[in-house]
Amino acid sequence: MALNCELPPDEGTIRGEIELSRGATASKLAQTPQMGFNTWNSFKGNYNESTANQIASLLISLGLKDAGYNYLILDEGWSDMARTTDGYLQSNQSTFSNGIVPLAERVHDMGLKLGLYGDSGILTCGFRPGSWGYEERDARTLASWGVDYWKYDNCGGFQAMSNAPQERFAVMRDALERSGREIFYSVCEWGFQFPWHWGGEIGHSYRMSGDITATFINETGCPCKTAYCLNTGYAGCSVTSILRKMREISVYQKPGHWLDMDMLEVGVGSMTVYMEQTHFAFWAALKSPLIIGADLRTLRNESLAVLTNRDVIAINQDSLGEPVHFVQGVSVEGALQVWAGEVKGGNVVLVFNEKSYSQDVDVSLKELGLGIQRPVRAKELWSGKSWGKIDRVKAELGAYQTLVFRITR
Ligand code: GAL
Repeated sequence: MALNCELPPDEGTIRGEIELSRGATASKLAQTPQMGFNTWNSFKGNYNESTANQIASLLISLGLKDAGYNYLILDEGWSDMARTTDGYLQSNQSTFSNGIVPLAERVHDMGLKLGLYGDSGILTCGFRPGSWGYEERDARTLASWGVDYWKYDNCGGFQAMSNAPQERFAVMRDALERSGREIFYSVCEWGFQFPWHWGGEIGHSYRMSGDITATFINETGCPCKTAYCLNTGYAGCSVTSILRKMREISVYQKPGHWLDMDMLEVGVGSMTVYMEQTHFAFWAALKSPLIIGADLRTLRNESLAVLTNRDVIAINQDSLGEPVHFVQGVSVEGALQVWAGEVKGGNVVLVFNEKSYSQDVDVSLKELGLGIQRPVRAKELWSGKSWGKIDRVKAELGAYQTLVFRITR
């Protein structure tokens, strides 16, 4: 049996001169943020081939594929605790005993794409084999199985940063590019080493935070309030702590290599509908990948309605790929957040009541830095209500509610 700690093969793995200063071949695969489903938030490692088949069918029958969610991504758990005796990645021999190929074929026949999870270290976070030293071989294996998406994690050694993440993640980027198949590359470095300065050169998307949890506010997890401090906070990030970090780094959001705010918790825990709407609206408008984390077998209708709101999804998939930005001047710290930005043919404005109780808000559109001088046409995307002409948002917002206005110019 192969040991996890065996020396990696030197066959084909190209190290040394890793070029960081070019964009990932991104653009074709990542013109808009990717959408799909990932097993981690609801299943952790507890799923098998039949669960994967069920989820694939539900993506179709719940109308999620039609709404744009086309990747089915198996996170930690699909792979075995050891490589094959000759050193290849293999599927978990008890839960995916048929291997990955039949699943990939089925998923493709349904018009979906298949994603798998791996790691840039010696071991994954769940102590399965990582790809360090095996990048070329593993990339070719993925291509031969028909895999379309590779989420690549940051566990498994190198605490001394002797091998910087930039290097580890770039080796796999190059290996995937040589694999002979177009594979979406999702870098999962937890926002740990300021990836907004280099992640776009490497991944089609890259995580900007530690792991999200199904909490709206969590002052003890990811507790810090600045991008710098949050780099050291690994897990337990709430919706609002990730949003807080985006205030500082939304400027780095660029088409083709998306800042990834982590998988959605809509339909996971016990957030209210307003919290779920707020979570989804910000992930959409900040152009994060939209990856469902809920167990689709038990999804509430209210959560499904949030995840399939076509108008909000259209903001996320807008061809300009511009994120909204925090409008400091009209926001009130701890009480009201206003974010605004451009979409093709107009603008989007988010007004978020950060309080646990209702409050009246009154925001003038002229003050948002959007160049709006006259009343404009607008639609609020959760209620569907439209206005022929408005020049301000005047409304009573419920606890943690966010209104999303699509403005047509
Ligand atoms: C974490 C990663 C999570 C999930 C988990 C699996 O490092 O951030 O999204 O993939 O590993 O072990």
